[in-house]
Amino acid sequence: MSEKEVLEKLWKRGREFLGVRYPIISGAMTWISDSGLVSAVSNAGGFGVLAAGNMPPELLAEEIDRTRQLTDKPFGVNLIVIAPNYPQHLRIVKEKGVKFIVFAGSFPSDKEVKELKEAGAKIIAFASNDVLAKRLIRKGMDALVIEGSEAGGHIGYVSLVVLIQQVLFNFRDEVPIFAAGGIATGEMAAHLLMAGASGIQMGTIFAVSKESKAHPEFKKRYLKAKAREAVFTPQVHPDLKIYPVRALKNKGMDEFQELQIELLQKIKAGEITKEEAQLKLEEFWMGALRRAVQEGDLERGSLMAGQSVGLVKREMSIPEIMEYMVEGMLREIKRVRESICP
Ligand SMILES: Cc1cc2nc3c(=O)[nH]c(=O)nc-3n(C[C@H](O)[C@H](O)[C@H](O)COP(=O)(O)O)c2cc1C
Repeated sequence: MSEKEVLEKLWKRGREFLGVRYPIISGAMTWISDSGLVSAVSNAGGFGVLAAGNMPPELLAEEIDRTRQLTDKPFGVNLIVIAPNYPQHLRIVKEKGVKFIVFAGSFPSDKEVKELKEAGAKIIAFASNDVLAKRLIRKGMDALVIEGSEAGGHIGYVSLVVLIQQVLFNFRDEVPIFAAGGIATGEMAAHLLMAGASGIQMGTIFAVSKESKAHPEFKKRYLKAKAREAVFTPQVHPDLKIYPVRALKNKGMDEFQELQIELLQKIKAGEITKEEAQLKLEEFWMGALRRAVQEGDLERGSLMAGQSVGLVKREMSIPEIMEYMVEGMLREIKRVRESICP
């Protein structure tokens, strides 16, 4: 059996589930994963995911239409369950018959799952531990993503190495599982497939791809960054729970700490509720990320990035990323085979 045939076997399930040539997902990135990037990924054989973020509902509808004009290949839409526009977003994806929905932030209700399935959609969600993975499978998720805390953007607390042992090893036979967080080489992807993942998801590497419309200064900063510069935001006080975010350290990160303190004081004074404060925190990230991505504000914008940022050293086109990943996978499969059966 050639290395190529081994790879075909390893990623067969992921390819069939997504209906793609390469089960390599370009994870949704708010303000970055637009119709241009998503269609470029899907046209190159990968799987693009549109980021709904909290965009105006009409814009999401337009972006879905535009993606369909630009590609006839499968793609998904990422919905943030806690976003204020979520109910309208959900209605749009149902009306438009979107085939893959990736839920983030929280999980859809049983009623929503039922309605989406009736509309013909496959549903994917993030499983941050084994108990949750079991619950999500029972709830009807068609696939899971395990995203380690190495990842960029909003993250969980557990590393991918632990999630592999906790979730992938226990549930890989039940539903396809895609691994994410800190991945930027084909070699790593090959090992994840050998461990039983159906495919992988990456974000940062696509954010700095040639097809990404992120500001040139944003890309330049990422290409220079070291892995250790992608740090996560600590929670200031248990009275105000936060979703940690991993981003390159800058003034914007310090401002997030200050905002937490300011909001805690307002909660204490009874000026706002905890829910309102949490919404303010999320609005902060949406605004700060837009400033970095669209205006190239490296100081006060949010430079959300995974630790994988330290592995991405050049701006590649999306077809080049696919080729680079596949070559790395084949090289690693060859090395492993030769070391086992010399
Ligand atoms: C700039 C940026 C924005 C992101 N926005 C979202 C988002 O809107 N929804 C989501 O589910 N994940 C989001 N993510 C996570 C990515 O989809 C992906 O899972 C993550 O980047 C994987 O880790 P990596 O960057 O090390 O490859 C974002 C990541 C980055 C870097």
